[in-house]
Amino acid sequence: MKLALFGDLLDVVTAPPPDAALDEPPPGVRWRPAHWLLIEDGRIAAIQTEPPGPGWTREERAGQLILPGFIDTHVHAPQLDVIASYGSELLDWLQRYTFPAETAWADPAVAAAGSARFLDQLLAHGSTSALVFPTVHKTSCSALFEAALQRGMRLIAGKCLMDRNAPPALTDTLASSERDSLELLALLAAWQGQGRSHRLAYAHTVRFAPTSSEAQLRLAGELLAAHPDSHLQTHVAENRAEVEWVRQLFPADRSYLGVYERHGLLGPRSTLAHGIWLDAEDRARLRATQAVIAHSPTSNLFLGSGLFDWRGHAAEGLRLSVASDVGGGTSLSMQRTLAAAYQVAALQGRRLDAFTLLHAATAGNAASLQLQQEIGRLEPGWVADVCAWDWAEDGSLLAQRLQRAESLHERLFAWLLLGDERLLRRVWVAGVQRVARD
Ligand code: GUN
Ligand code: ZN
Repeated sequence: MKLALFGDLLDVVTAPPPDAALDEPPPGVRWRPAHWLLIEDGRIAAIQTEPPGPGWTREERAGQLILPGFIDTHVHAPQLDVIASYGSELLDWLQRYTFPAETAWADPAVAAAGSARFLDQLLAHGSTSALVFPTVHKTSCSALFEAALQRGMRLIAGKCLMDRNAPPALTDTLASSERDSLELLALLAAWQGQGRSHRLAYAHTVRFAPTSSEAQLRLAGELLAAHPDSHLQTHVAENRAEVEWVRQLFPADRSYLGVYERHGLLGPRSTLAHGIWLDAEDRARLRATQAVIAHSPTSNLFLGSGLFDWRGHAAEGLRLSVASDVGGGTSLSMQRTLAAAYQVAALQGRRLDAFTLLHAATAGNAASLQLQQEIGRLEPGWVADVCAWDWAEDGSLLAQRLQRAESLHERLFAWLLLGDERLLRRVWVAGVQRVARD
């Protein structure tokens, strides 16, 4: 299969320094208007201005923006059903809305249908890869892997580990969580052996410290150490009442993050959502262990959790990613997520330029998952996870704003702040068209 895609190619391989001039694209920003992107066997083969020769199927998207597929580094598959639920902060929101929605996924048919719907929604928002929480149920995770396999998507997930402080229908046990985790790891290994699942990986998924016993946290650390290709995902220091609860549950630990570190859960393949209420010592431990904080700005605003200082923490050398955290977050759209990140930074007197924002949702998030050699760039050898976007709909406010824009940065910033999934026209996952909308 040889596909030649024509349009205005943009990718950001390194974020500019905070004080970079923005009137011209800084180094690391690759703006290649009216170029051809050649895709062969699922990978990007070449990028050129000359039209392709015979034998290439042409897809001409003149005037459209061609971007790498977005990557969502923290999102909950079963929570689409409770997005935009009124009136709670984290702990009450979990009890009132989230846990009941997740309980429904005990039914494998619900999990299968929900997983398919979830991944189709991710694709419809231009996200081609994700690090995902399903539920505590083993079948919720295998259903998600099946659905990702059918769509060719790069997906990392694992069954939630939660053996206390949750409704009985949503708790596992030390024994069942170990058995289920090993069976799911074996399932992926078997698929890999059959050449079926090179784009799926396992993440040990500690929901958060309050819902795991000491023994289960220890198990997660042992599983992570025993399976070097696996990942770890959890939540940390999102909400002040949550932090206080962890202090009561683990009185001997210096901090919430310290609970995870003591159990061997912090490393370069660990992604911890939120991290708003961490102190300088915690941040030093994050730097030392190379664990990643997934900033989830629409969620932090919606649940009233707090303001994460992305610029400040990036300057300190923390590894950061950006994420929707739906259903705590209010949109799967990376434009909306990045717009919220800009606004959260602005509330703290900081600025996040459009190139830094776009980098975060693509090459930056890829690097956070150690996938920087596979996704997040438009570059020969990288997997062809690619989206074609309109700059604006005719007659829209965004179209009007773009007419006045004098630089690429001004255009891109307006597009990120005012655009959303309605501008998406095409999605290819590993070179296969998965979304077509005109
Ligand atoms: N902490 C523990 N579980 C969750 C969850 O589902 N969403 C968010 N935002 N925080 C959590
Ligand atoms: Zn979350």
